Amino acid sequence: SEEAVKIETTPELVSRVYDKLEANVAKFRKITNNRPLTLAEKILVGHLDGSDVYEPERGKSYVFLNPDRVALQDVTGQMTILQFAQAGLKRVKLPTTVHCDHLIQAKVDSATDTRFAIIQNNEVFQFLESACRKYGIGFWKPGAGIIHQVVLENYAFPGGLMIGTDSHTPNAGGLGMVAIGVGGLDAAEVMAGMPWELLYPKRIGVYLKGELNGWAAPKDIILYVASKLTVSGGTNAIIEYFGPGARSISCTGKATITNMGAEIGATCSVFAYDERMETYLRATNRGALADLANKHRALLTEDPEVERDPAKYFDQVIEIDLSKLEPHIVGPHTPDLARPISQMAQDVKKNNYLDSISVALIGSCTNSSYEDMSRAADIAKQAKEHGMKTPVSLQVTPGSEMIRATIERDGQMKVLQDIGANVLANACGPCIGQWSRPELKKGEPNTIVTSYNRNFPGRNDGRRETMNFIGSPELVIALALAGRLSFNPITDELTAPDGTKFKLHPPGQAPEVPENGFQNSRDVYVAPAADPDSVQVVIDPKSDRLQQLAPFAPWDGRDFEKLPVLAKTKGKTTTDHISPAGAWLTYRGHLDRISDNLLLGAVNAYNGQVGNGKNQLSGQVEPFPHVAREYKAKGIKWIIVGDSNYGEGSSREHAAMTPRYLNCAAVIVRSFARIHETNLKKQGVLALTFANPVDYDKILEDDRLSIVGLNDMQAGKPVKCIICHADGRTEEIELKHSYNSAQIEWFKAGSALNLMQSK
Ligand code: F3S
Repeated sequence: SEEAVKIETTPELVSRVYDKLEANVAKFRKITNNRPLTLAEKILVGHLDGSDVYEPERGKSYVFLNPDRVALQDVTGQMTILQFAQAGLKRVKLPTTVHCDHLIQAKVDSATDTRFAIIQNNEVFQFLESACRKYGIGFWKPGAGIIHQVVLENYAFPGGLMIGTDSHTPNAGGLGMVAIGVGGLDAAEVMAGMPWELLYPKRIGVYLKGELNGWAAPKDIILYVASKLTVSGGTNAIIEYFGPGARSISCTGKATITNMGAEIGATCSVFAYDERMETYLRATNRGALADLANKHRALLTEDPEVERDPAKYFDQVIEIDLSKLEPHIVGPHTPDLARPISQMAQDVKKNNYLDSISVALIGSCTNSSYEDMSRAADIAKQAKEHGMKTPVSLQVTPGSEMIRATIERDGQMKVLQDIGANVLANACGPCIGQWSRPELKKGEPNTIVTSYNRNFPGRNDGRRETMNFIGSPELVIALALAGRLSFNPITDELTAPDGTKFKLHPPGQAPEVPENGFQNSRDVYVAPAADPDSVQVVIDPKSDRLQQLAPFAPWDGRDFEKLPVLAKTKGKTTTDHISPAGAWLTYRGHLDRISDNLLLGAVNAYNGQVGNGKNQLSGQVEPFPHVAREYKAKGIKWIIVGDSNYGEGSSREHAAMTPRYLNCAAVIVRSFARIHETNLKKQGVLALTFANPVDYDKILEDDRLSIVGLNDMQAGKPVKCIICHADGRTEEIELKHSYNSAQIEWFKAGSALNLMQSK
């Protein structure tokens, strides 16, 4: 049907989800001999595609799932929608929203920066808005807030499954949802009604007991977990938080924790449904969903045996006594470099960290709840009572317009401003490098403290020399008041302007939701059009930001004969090496323009240089994209040869689309990172591996490669490659592939989307 779906998470939708969850879990219990189940198991099994229920192998099997909704942000959403448009459908098949949050640069203040961003990115916002209105997608305007905060406030629900084109999508796990970050093509396919494929994750359990007290905040739980698991410790695993301590944390505090599961590489993190979630659902006008969740509580929580004996049901268990947890600070440059605040001064000395803070920032999708802002304001109020202001710049990025308006009404914003805070737009801003800092000299080292989530070099302001430390919002305010990183509010005193010394008290009990309800004062949402067919999606053909996608040509049925090797990459070749980010972020919606970044970060195995290789037509060494363009202009297809785990890193589909666009026929590697391999297959590039990995060494710079017998390509059957050396010698090698018969059809059709369109 081409009917528009309802964007809202309606009780009807949630009832349907719970019915399927119930039925699938009942079947699953039968086949697993009634063994106790964790929450993530219930939610994943409850979303299996089709009617078959089976037990997948953790960390090994791939499962097809039916998500309940999709969320896109304004950078990744561009290519997602362009790809969706290629499927030839009139409307999205499931509730989908777009959130304009990444394209607002922090420079002056909320109003000025939002206005400027709207002018600067006008055509992108216009495109997104018109496409949303046409295809039945909810559109949240620039200034509406950050994707994950807006999703938590409006759309997340316990027991649901959501995918989003942003790595912090797991934020919705704070409201009991399995919410996972994906690449744009995955999202486009799901929007078109296809199931979504996931590596069935392993399980890590975090048992929480006791209660947070003093300066310790929910943020400190995840900072502590990150220090234990490290940045890759959660890879291919769902982290489940449970135990009495979990039920003592507010819903938004839980979301802070699940948000930052991304920092340890977790597939996602999730908390079981409890009264704190009920409180949040009711405060955000979703009482009917709370009633439904109450009725299905057993489905939305782990089985009681799991809490009693977690080691039996998880691959790994971490136990934390919240009553003993100290506030933590992590950084610089990695979120797993943690220490309790009591050790910070020592670490500053030992590592020669720059003690004086240049800027303190609170907010972002991670930490801008009503509770967070109230706790931060509590500290600010104490300073204000002593006539103090922060000696350093203090910036606040509210997570949403609803939070901004509510803390304006309830006074938290005023108190923060009274101690010197500047309120930035309800957007990502300094969290994603959208931060203008003209006052800093080039290369000037400086220390910032934030309540954000990521801190790798260059993340916040594009400057690798900025050292970023992360803590809870209340701790960041305390450090901002002291102006130095080595300050410990538990033991150290501040000096008021009149010379008196005083100590800050830990923030008192803050309300998790406002007593007088949330405030919504600005019009920030655009619903799909009542008459969607009348909406034109305009893309200026002269634009360098957006470009309509044209379908890739189907395979012509002929073997690939004597193709040149554009690049043989050596060592780590991540998707960021294949399609770099940084300044290229601007061109994510323009395939031709962004193709100029092809392989600019890859190391050439022949000359050891980065981003260039020999042009077989001119004999010159030139940037890879130049060479590829020249081959394309002459109608020459070409090949990439890669090393091990080629295409690791983010699931960025541009890393598969740009080679395809510039005429890449095949990528032959020692081994693939699986998501990139699938992306190549989906875009119609032949993804092959050396049957014998040492054959990688046989490929020389001036060789031509033929891949033959393609008409007879079959699942599980290797293909033949003939290496034609420049001196006239030839060698035959075997190449393996992991195509199944359906995927071979993608290759023949030119892409998975072409095939979908033809059906
Ligand atoms: Fe935006 Fe930073 Fe969150 S970029 S989505 S505020 S992680």
